[in-house]
Amino acid sequence: MKPIVLLTPAIALLQLSAAKETIHERSWDEAYGMAQSLVANMTINDKVAIVSGVGFGLGHCIGNTRKTSGIFPQLCLQDGPVGVRDAKSTSVFPAGITTAATWDRDLIQTRGADLGYEFRHKGVHVALGPSIDILRAPQAGRNWEGFGEDPYLNGEATTATVRGIQSQGVIATAKHFTGYNQETNRNTYSTEVDDRTLHEVYLWPYARAIEAGLGAVMCSYNNINGTHACQDEHTLNTTLKGEMGFRGWVMSDWFATHSTADGVNAGQDMDMPGRSGHFGSSLKRAVKKGKVTPERLTDMVERIVATYYKLGQEKDYPAVSLGDADVDVQENHKKDIRAIGAAATVLLSNKDDILPIVPGKIKQVAVIGEDAGGAIFGPNACILHSCNSGTLAVGGGSGSATFPYLVTPADAIQARAKNASIDVKVADSNIFSASKAEGADIAFVFVNAFAQESFDRSSLDLDKNGNKLIENVAKKNNNTVVVIHSGGPVNMPWIDNPSIKAVLWAGYPGQETGNSIADVLFGDVNPSGRLPFTIAKHETDYCAKVTSDSKIPYTEKLNVGYRWFEALNIKPLFPFGYGLSYTDFKYSHLEVTSKNKQVQASVRVENTGEVDGAEIVQVYLSFPDAAHEPPKVLRGFEKVTIKAGKSTSVQFKLGKTELSIWEPKARDWKIVSGMYKLHIGASSADIRLSVEFEL
Ligand code: NOJ
Repeated sequence: MKPIVLLTPAIALLQLSAAKETIHERSWDEAYGMAQSLVANMTINDKVAIVSGVGFGLGHCIGNTRKTSGIFPQLCLQDGPVGVRDAKSTSVFPAGITTAATWDRDLIQTRGADLGYEFRHKGVHVALGPSIDILRAPQAGRNWEGFGEDPYLNGEATTATVRGIQSQGVIATAKHFTGYNQETNRNTYSTEVDDRTLHEVYLWPYARAIEAGLGAVMCSYNNINGTHACQDEHTLNTTLKGEMGFRGWVMSDWFATHSTADGVNAGQDMDMPGRSGHFGSSLKRAVKKGKVTPERLTDMVERIVATYYKLGQEKDYPAVSLGDADVDVQENHKKDIRAIGAAATVLLSNKDDILPIVPGKIKQVAVIGEDAGGAIFGPNACILHSCNSGTLAVGGGSGSATFPYLVTPADAIQARAKNASIDVKVADSNIFSASKAEGADIAFVFVNAFAQESFDRSSLDLDKNGNKLIENVAKKNNNTVVVIHSGGPVNMPWIDNPSIKAVLWAGYPGQETGNSIADVLFGDVNPSGRLPFTIAKHETDYCAKVTSDSKIPYTEKLNVGYRWFEALNIKPLFPFGYGLSYTDFKYSHLEVTSKNKQVQASVRVENTGEVDGAEIVQVYLSFPDAAHEPPKVLRGFEKVTIKAGKSTSVQFKLGKTELSIWEPKARDWKIVSGMYKLHIGASSADIRLSVEFEL
């Protein structure tokens, strides 16, 4: 029997900041028309200036295009995926991995629009995000920046983010193109990947973002099949610009340009930050010597200028105000940050319905762990958050941003408990603090795993002896609840300990982390977050691990993430797409029709519990054997909020995109004829209903 508590998840989730006005985005054709007229009047010096960077480390933007004769402005390019880097009075949003865990396109787009607003009003033309690298090896240092292991979920999150950012007239940059899935030796290793895997896994999110009007792409540090990513003809010219029809521009990652004509002729359009020595006067010389055609230089410039016009940046664009400039752009974004953090929290276990906290029944709680409290030297003490101190709400490196403030879990729980007359004992240091757990009705233990750019994790164990801390707390209190802040999967050797009643994965939630988790623990928000990655029983179970080899063969091919576990029949600890709620959902009446290579499905979902809640209804597809696909792949999802005792019907449409496979020989997407199976699941491993259909 569930405890009867008053939950108002729909209301809590609706407490967002006011919707933003959106700019009128021009069509590519119209934008190109305008660009061509302008570029026709440019000298070669102007053109070279627009594609070359200048000023890195000079206290301006992280990337800047050079000054022209005055015909086109200098563009400001700035990190990153969670907020405006190196700025004051800006917000720190939930990380990409956290955002993906909401499986909520509207919330993801809201975050994008908020980000776009902040970039715009800080005068940034080009936001260097989202990061959309697939989570392949769980130890990879930048997994927290991206949207997880599945291309479809990643594609939906990328599209919503790009739409949001660009709705504010800011150019979004999808990065890092491509096959960039670890930090170790990132400038030298070669990703050895076949064309089908590239298309169906690593390029899929780019394809979706291009459909949404994506403005810029950043080519990556690594090599692809032996060629520097920024000069790889196959992925840049043939695939991205050719087959995928990308009309924006390709910039290098910072210092990832290795040549002039080779890169430019393979499809690189801009060098950042401009100290490579390969663009600027070298590019001008290459054009004069005929190594780069004037037409190609014009194309590079037109791509940049057209994107600028597409987003209407020629009109009233705010001046740059980074660094210490005190232009406050935060609006009411903290509401959205809090709501996304709460909606992303994944309830992994909840024995005896220990959560949510029921005031009256619960009189005293203990809050334990350094991860619950503040950092010793303040939330922004380490440059780009390159250290783990206090509660972990963002990862480290260029993808980080400066906290305007940080609400810690300990503070938020104390504030909330006070209103509910619950006593809180806080012990925010090391393993010895477990003693505070004694006697409390619930002992919350906060643990984390830090991840940052330039370094991969050496293991998936929690930091700072987190496993030991959990065990110590569980020894003192048989109502232990574990909260994990990490950027991806972690090892959970204590998971079967009967004293551990609940486990929550909260990702890196940004500046409102404490309020977000308190919303879930106290039941103001009924958890609906679902894992955007698989958590294995053993670290050796995953499809890939970080390596120091110079060549990294992607031998798992399409079987990334949960697909690997299913193909090899390995039981995960918590499967992709998994997460509990404070209520239960029942699925029925799955109907599938297929006509003219279009498939429609509808299913009834009923909230059979006693509290309102939101379910993430997931569609997986099994292809005919002849397609040689993984056992099943995600091809749809919807988040539906359903009142207690009510039900709703959820519809899905699968078209050519969802039903096709990439055929490298034909160089095209093809629908394979045969019998398919459409599955409706509450996770990748919890399939409730399946129906076969023929194509
Ligand atoms: C390198 C990172 O890989 C990239 O993501 C970032 O945008 C640039 N540095 C600029 O800081």
